[in-house]
Amino acid sequence: MRFKGALSATLKVKRMASFEMIRTVAGMQAQAESWQRGGLRIALVPTMGALHAGHLRLVEEARRIGEKVLVSIFVNPAQFAPHEDFASYPRQEAADLEKLAPLGVDAVFAPSAEEMYPVGFATRVAVGGPSEGLETDFRPHFFGGVATVVTKLFTACRPHVAVFGEKDYQQFLVVRRLSADLGLGVAIHGVPTLREPDGLALSSRNAYLLANERRTAPRLQAEMRGAAEAIRAGKAIDGALAGAAVALADAGFRVDYLALRNAETLAPVADAAKEPLRLLAAAWLGRTRLIDNIAV
Ligand code: PAF
Repeated sequence: MRFKGALSATLKVKRMASFEMIRTVAGMQAQAESWQRGGLRIALVPTMGALHAGHLRLVEEARRIGEKVLVSIFVNPAQFAPHEDFASYPRQEAADLEKLAPLGVDAVFAPSAEEMYPVGFATRVAVGGPSEGLETDFRPHFFGGVATVVTKLFTACRPHVAVFGEKDYQQFLVVRRLSADLGLGVAIHGVPTLREPDGLALSSRNAYLLANERRTAPRLQAEMRGAAEAIRAGKAIDGALAGAAVALADAGFRVDYLALRNAETLAPVADAAKEPLRLLAAAWLGRTRLIDNIAV
């Protein structure tokens, strides 16, 4: 593996896999514009690094739908509250680049915080609609930070399409709304959640789980499935959700929310028989916050 300088380097890994490593917004825009001039369809996978199989699946999907594949790695300070895990969030760039090397990625955009938010930066993108409730009730700063960085990533990377995991379902809908509302011209492509064999949704934060918590963690998905099946079978929604919430609390979770929403808008359900439904949850196990969602 070798880097040719910090601003734009080519990483070479086994079997001559290589990609451009870009650290500056100007460098990224120049690269994207040259691809655009060549009429190439750019697919972006935005990430915060600590890549796992779920991210690699997003990259494969980007490869399928794009002609140039771009992965961004940036732990975005704007989406963490001061008391959250920004400082301890796993950062492992070298390992991430090795994982990307065999996947046919054309460039990795990995700017510094100063590059993305230079001194004097004073803009924040405010989002409504699907950002209301759920995550926002517990992390009010979150979607403003996500919307701001995604807007910056889109203007730097100039993608035609951006690939997001449905694991962060509310984020996926917020970004889709953002791109449509601001006319960013980026199609937002969702990819179903990848799971461990025991059902736990893949997440970089799973690394925080202690051994006993890791054993308990799949209960979140299991209880959600149980509640979804009960609702499908005609059980009252409130009763099904309350039963699952109690079972989770008994198993040691502290539930932030477990909610059934309209799958397109995330508005509260008015008529369950007539709407597409999504069950969404966030719950703590020890110091790890897990989120998950399933179609109902
Ligand atoms: O889902 C994530 O990893 C982040 O929220 C994103 C979309 C890369 C923005 O920082």
